[in-house]
Amino acid sequence: GKGGHRHYMLKEIYEQPQVIGDTLNAMFNPVERTITLPPLPFALDDVERVTLIACGTSSYAAMVARYWIESIARVPVDLDVGSEFRYRDPPLQAGGLALFISQSGETADTLAALRHCKAKGLRCLSIVNVAESTMARESDAVLTTLAGPEIGVASTKAFTTQLVVLACLTIALARAKGQLDADGEARLSKGLTEVPARAAEILKYDEDLRAIAQTVAEARDVLYLGRGTAFPIALEGALKLKEISYIHAEGYAAGEMKHGPIALIDETVPVIVIAPSDGLFDKTASNVQEVVARGGKVIFLSDSEGNRRLGVTPAFSVVLPAVDPFVAPILYAIPVQLLAYHVAVIKGTDVDQPRNLAKSVTVE
Ligand code: F6R
Repeated sequence: GKGGHRHYMLKEIYEQPQVIGDTLNAMFNPVERTITLPPLPFALDDVERVTLIACGTSSYAAMVARYWIESIARVPVDLDVGSEFRYRDPPLQAGGLALFISQSGETADTLAALRHCKAKGLRCLSIVNVAESTMARESDAVLTTLAGPEIGVASTKAFTTQLVVLACLTIALARAKGQLDADGEARLSKGLTEVPARAAEILKYDEDLRAIAQTVAEARDVLYLGRGTAFPIALEGALKLKEISYIHAEGYAAGEMKHGPIALIDETVPVIVIAPSDGLFDKTASNVQEVVARGGKVIFLSDSEGNRRLGVTPAFSVVLPAVDPFVAPILYAIPVQLLAYHVAVIKGTDVDQPRNLAKSVTVE
């Protein structure tokens, strides 16, 4: 059942502190404060390049992972959506690592890419939520998200648990590549262990986000902005909103605004900014100032330091708890899910079964 919630989607959003914790506990040793992946049939220290392939929301988890793997493990990453990968026919090196991310483990485009990579001699590692899925069966190795069954068509808890597994994989890879000492690993894993409690805190912003949803529900178009690992969260926010509320939404890298999309800004366009205070914050803040100067209705998601440093007054601000920048994309996914959910409820759509969509896309 829906556990007392009106929709499966809301139940699944609320399950996140628990399932994030379950997923992390399967890979984190609290005594040693280290990450231990299940045994893999290949050595991570040999990995020279990672090819990430996924579709939809799972591809945004892959995008976050690209930032993490390149900046922390210093391993180059290629990234594609499943439907583009094979037809692009990229040169692939036998022995390279291909990483597939899928809640269902059945998505046709991702599965076809996996079969292609296997035929080319790559090592295929899948991150799936359905342990007995086709992708899990056909991969050389599998890491599972312990999100439990996801019923709502719009992915929520599968996404945040994918990020947890990808964060752990990044740490293990960085260690194997000699890029992370014990202190560095302890710092990153401390950030991760705090995620379940922070996620629970962030759920308490539900009412605030519901109030803001009223304004978003009146819009025809909505923009989402973010930089660094907040950029894929902007893309995910826009996808979540369009698929369940049917409002047109676009996610942009905040720095791209001035290259075109800023022309869309007027007082009817809500601009949702995902801006945890991190090393890129001041750049994002100056992009927000440009939007506010043009009359844009900014909905600002940050922490208290970010709100203090913004320098302009947004139409709405949500002052979230301060979090380690490493794990911020995991946590900022939650307000973005809640906002989309409440907008859809206001619009009266079928939240759990949006029109034209299927939970598992088994055709190309
Ligand atoms: C969006 C959504 C889809 C899926 C995509 C991939 O909320 O659910 O975009 O993320 O169809 O599905 P999986 O992860 O099962 O391969």
